[in-house]
Amino acid sequence: MKKILITGASGFIGSFIVEKALELGYDTYAGIRKSSSKKYLTDKRIHFIDLDFSDKISLKKQLSEYKFDYIVHAAGLTKAQQKNDFEIVNFKATQNLIEALKETAAIPEKFIFVSSMAAHGPGNDNDIIPVKCSDQPHPDTLYGISKLNAEKYINSLKKFPVITLRPTGVYGPREKDYFVFFKTINSGIEPYIGLQEQYLTFIYVRDFVDVIFKAISSPIIGKTYFVSDGKAYTAHEFANITKKILNKKTFKLCVPLAIVKLIAATMETVNGWFGKVPTLNRDKYNVLKARNWLCDISDLEKDFNFKAKYYLEDGVKEAIEWYKKEKWL
Ligand SMILES: NC(=O)c1ccc[n+]([C@@H]2O[C@H](COP(=O)([O-])OP(=O)(O)OC[C@H]3O[C@@H](n4cnc5c(N)ncnc54)[C@H](OP(=O)(O)O)[C@@H]3O)[C@@H](O)[C@H]2O)c1
Repeated sequence: MKKILITGASGFIGSFIVEKALELGYDTYAGIRKSSSKKYLTDKRIHFIDLDFSDKISLKKQLSEYKFDYIVHAAGLTKAQQKNDFEIVNFKATQNLIEALKETAAIPEKFIFVSSMAAHGPGNDNDIIPVKCSDQPHPDTLYGISKLNAEKYINSLKKFPVITLRPTGVYGPREKDYFVFFKTINSGIEPYIGLQEQYLTFIYVRDFVDVIFKAISSPIIGKTYFVSDGKAYTAHEFANITKKILNKKTFKLCVPLAIVKLIAATMETVNGWFGKVPTLNRDKYNVLKARNWLCDISDLEKDFNFKAKYYLEDGVKEAIEWYKKEKWL
């Protein structure tokens, strides 16, 4: 039985990776922290391993003891109170984990690094052409810069069996940020940020997890892939799909970018007083203001024979059913 470690197992995406690993018959280790919630990690077959990425000595001890066949590194910080936290978690922790693997000769058969489309940054607002992995990255958020720094470190390694995945917006049950949008539509408000149309891409969490396991079993190493369902959606299409599924009539509210920026800065400051990071913050503002989040997934389709099982309408429907069942909506 092949042994797999999933870091960030307590998170939205990590918890789905753990479920799939169990379903596929892997000996599954959930990498968590002492403070992590186990709400979605209740299967008795899961082994837990407390990982402190800042403590290389204990990391080395743990990794050399377990000798994982595969590692999916999904731990990451998408919102941070201190700017430096992005670098510490998304870059430095990744570097420490890989150095610990190398120094103990515990390099797995395959290491999947869950990066983000944010590491590349959005495409050009004028031509709305999908970005390609061969394009020069230009991240415009601290989050994206920290992911790109981790990618650069990974790409500098020789003979390290890695595949880097750059998912676009991942959505599905348990997710908390797109949920804010669903909740807003459910309340009868249809929010738009900026006055120009926004072009978006998505990947349903179950499809993203399938890509991870295709990457694990593929002989390919050393490549980076954007991951989306392959379609382009406008912000209006996203809202229309959500309204249809929720069966809601809404009032359209177009908020100019300058006001969104002000709200983001205010929310970040006020939440900061209470030690919290709001969904809308300065870094997120840069994501929301970009008009072109299209990415090219032709390599993913070619190398992994990938075809999404869920397009936006099917995924949003399943997610909303879950939010309703769990009384989030
Ligand atoms: N959701 C998306 O749309 C999206 C898109 C592109 C890429 N990604 C990437 O996908 C990965 C998972 O994201 P997610 O949406 O599932 O986020 P999430 O729900 O916030 O989960 C993040 C996970 O990382 C762990 N983590 C955070 N800081 C850590 C630290 N200092 N040490 C150890 N573990 C730490 C968290 O542990 P605790 O539970 O203990 O906090 C949690 O398990 C991240 O790398 C993210 O950058 C997500």
